[in-house]
Amino acid sequence: MMAEIRLPVEASACGKVILLGEHAVVYGRPALAAPVCGRRARARAEPLPPGAGCWIEAPDTGERLRLSEAPDHPLARTVRLALEHLGLPEPDLRLVLRSELPIAGGLGSSAAASAALVRALFRWADRTPEPEIVSALVYEIEKLHHGTPSGIDNTVIAYERPIRFVRSRPPVLLRIARPFTLVIADSGVPSPTRETVAAVRAGWEREPARYEALFDAIAGLVQEAEACLQAGAIETLGPLLDANHRILQELGVSSPLLDHLVEAARMAGALGAKLTGGGRGGNVIALVRPEDVEVVARALRAAGARGAFATEVRAD
Ligand code: MEV
Repeated sequence: MMAEIRLPVEASACGKVILLGEHAVVYGRPALAAPVCGRRARARAEPLPPGAGCWIEAPDTGERLRLSEAPDHPLARTVRLALEHLGLPEPDLRLVLRSELPIAGGLGSSAAASAALVRALFRWADRTPEPEIVSALVYEIEKLHHGTPSGIDNTVIAYERPIRFVRSRPPVLLRIARPFTLVIADSGVPSPTRETVAAVRAGWEREPARYEALFDAIAGLVQEAEACLQAGAIETLGPLLDANHRILQELGVSSPLLDHLVEAARMAGALGAKLTGGGRGGNVIALVRPEDVEVVARALRAAGARGAFATEVRAD
């Protein structure tokens, strides 16, 4: 019998932005998030000769691991979880992971990396995973990265659709009447979500009533923003982003650089701007009219952003 010749397979996963509601979402409030389809993590699975084992390589970070020798590494845990789900033993396989998403930048880099690996392994096994399976597997790995994640990152990345998310509930696909454009700008300061979530937790333990009131205020903005999106009232969305940023400042997760960047975006004509994700570093988002993309991106770079790019959130 001829040996089966296997060809390499590839899979990818998008990044994400939180439009409104980060941090409050950890405490049961709703949040809105959208995929960033143009910035992705990609995983390639290439067959190796029999007996070679399973290797994971991440050239961006210089990592090269043998699955059987890295029991606790998040990438190895991801691969093992997916293989367990598929009921497969360790394959003779080289998995190469590359990402266009900044690490610890609030754009879901860890969830995207895990989702790309999970999808590549399913494809290797000639299976197509349902989004809820990708989301559930990736959530297990997000807990290793972030401690007590709400689950919003794995969910929006697995569904690759704008969502309204409440912790421990199935996501609701957002109804978006008119597409809108965001400029996403990187402060260049990596900020692990685990640390900002822990800082908010410490504040909440010190002053629970104040923090609960701030989370409630964010939930109110999320509700208003959802109504704006459903009505196509994009101009009205801008001030809601600004208001959410002010509350994030009060929660202690902004920084002078992030405040400077959102201010620069507004001065250049953005309809509204805020930090996105964990904060204290990472990225900011600015809601812009399509014709203002270039001028706002230029202003953000001039204000100190490492890079700025536009993404469109599509209408359904
Ligand atoms: C991280 O993208 C968003 C946070 O709300 C943490 C979480 O929801 O797990 C800061």
